[in-house]
This record gives sequence, structure tokens and C-alpha cells, in this order.
Amino acid sequence: MQFSGILSLREGELKMDDKDFLHFISQVKQKTGIDLSLYKEAQMKRRLTSLREKRGYRTFDDYFKAMVKDSSLFDEFLDRMTINVSEFFRNPNRWEALEKKILPRLFKENKKLKVWSAACSTGEEPYSLVMLLTRFLPLSEIRIKATDLDTNVMNKAKQGVYIERALQDVPKDLVSKYFTKQDMMYHVTPEIKQRVAFEKQNLLADTFDSGYDLIVCRNVMIYFTEEAKSALYQKFSDALRPGGVLFVGSTEQIFQPQKYSFEAEDTFFYKKV
Ligand SMILES: C[S@@+](CC[C@H](N)C(=O)[O-])C[C@H]1O[C@@H](n2cnc3c(N)ncnc32)[C@H](O)[C@@H]1O
Repeated sequence: MQFSGILSLREGELKMDDKDFLHFISQVKQKTGIDLSLYKEAQMKRRLTSLREKRGYRTFDDYFKAMVKDSSLFDEFLDRMTINVSEFFRNPNRWEALEKKILPRLFKENKKLKVWSAACSTGEEPYSLVMLLTRFLPLSEIRIKATDLDTNVMNKAKQGVYIERALQDVPKDLVSKYFTKQDMMYHVTPEIKQRVAFEKQNLLADTFDSGYDLIVCRNVMIYFTEEAKSALYQKFSDALRPGGVLFVGSTEQIFQPQKYSFEAEDTFFYKKV
């Protein structure tokens, strides 16, 4: 059961602030389609309570009313729901496994790959994928989809401008080929940016395309309840072709992968069987 902490109390026993938060959850769902009850309760409530208090609203009800009137408050709320931090080639040894083991097998089976970076945040992950794929294919043949719930982070992704620290794990040859330095900032070259199609998408509510060879979904599932994760693994499995791979974050291993027709191909890589 979602939000079991609150929902296990009978209606009459709910504390005022629990009622206020539950009402907020249902208002947000109605207005945006985002179902906060599918995110881990304690984390989410703590994060949003501190934001509400920082903005000076006594209740979630007042906060929601203000958010409806002021889109900057809504943007801030979206930003705070989960953390947007990303890095190029995050956990480099997993990207090495992708390059040396997973991609060679996938390319043996298919000349062109259908690739999706899900919950792509500010673009470091889809751009890393394009750069890595240039080791296998001409740029003109690379096309990947990148999605996120939050259009603000994707607007940053489309700009493709990063601080030097974001590049610390990018292989040196790729830095010199695919970034230009302007003042203190590093710009991803237009030829790389053009290979990525960004789209707004809610992983917990929207339907997925199918026939993927590779889905990269990292560092977002940690925020979801067990039930939501389980449903999402199944949706990913259905979206992959047999032999296709789901690449997850380094704290996100799937227990009982066989339940979703997956088998572990390497650490944090699951092959659809
Ligand atoms: C920590 S970032 C992960 C970025 C990148 N995948 C990485 O591992 O570096 C988490 C991202 O998940 C997005 N997100 C949160 N809930 C989502 C949902 N239901 N559907 C799609 N994206 C979501 C957030 O907007 C945020 O950009």
C-alpha cells in the first residue's frame, strides 16, 4: 500500500497536517497528473515541507493555492521533488562496461540501436550516450530520445552548457572533439546536440514506445515506492526487444529480475530475455 504510514490510520484519526498533505497530493495529481503517492513518503514530505516553510506558507493548502497563481513556485516545487543532479559518464566504470561489453553485443545483433535516456535531467546522460555511440557509428546515424518530467531541466539540457567539473569523467578525446570552451563554460557542440530529441514524459503515468535496444534510467527510481518501481520495471521490460538492455543507477539493482523477464548481464545492466 502506498503511503502506508498515513493511510493505515483510520480517517477520523488522521492528524491535521497529514490531512493537509494528502489533500495537497490529490490536488497536485488533479492539476498536473503527477502522483506524489508513488514517491517515497518520508523523503518527499520532508523535502516539500521545508520548501513550503521557506516560502512562508503555513499549510500545504495555502502553498498549493499560491503555486497555481505563481508558476515560479510550481517550477521550484518540481525542482525540489527529486534531485536534478547529473554528471557526464556518471560512475565511469559502468560506462566502460557499456562500451566494452554491452554495446558490442547489441551492435552484433542490430546495426542501428533504438536508445532512450529516461529521466535525463540536464542532459549529461543523453549527451554521454551520443558521444559514446560515436565510437561505433557515424554521428549522422545516431538518434536518441531523452525524456524528463521537468521541462525546466530539459531547457537547460537543450542549451548544453556546463561547468568544467561536470566534465571530469568525460574521456579526454571526447572533450576535445565534442565541447568548445567559451569563457569559463563548456558548450556541447551542435552536432552532438542535434542527435538528441528531448520530450516531456512522466515515467509513472505515460505509456512507453516499444522495440528499444537500450534504455538508460538512472538515479530516479530510488525516489519511487516499491510498488511504483515494480510497475516501472515491467513497463521497461515491455518496452525492450528481447535481448535489449536496461541500464540502472549504481544504487538501484533490481531484486528478482526474473520477475520482469530480466537477467543480469553485468552489474546494473539487465537484459530482457
Ligand atoms: C537525479 S536526476 C537523474 C539524472 C540522470 N539520469 C543521472 O543519473 O545522472 C533525476 C531526474 O528524474 C526526474 N524525474 C522525477 N520523477 C520523474 C518521473 N515521474 N518521470 C520522469 N522523470 C522524473 C527529475 O525531474 C530529475 O531530472
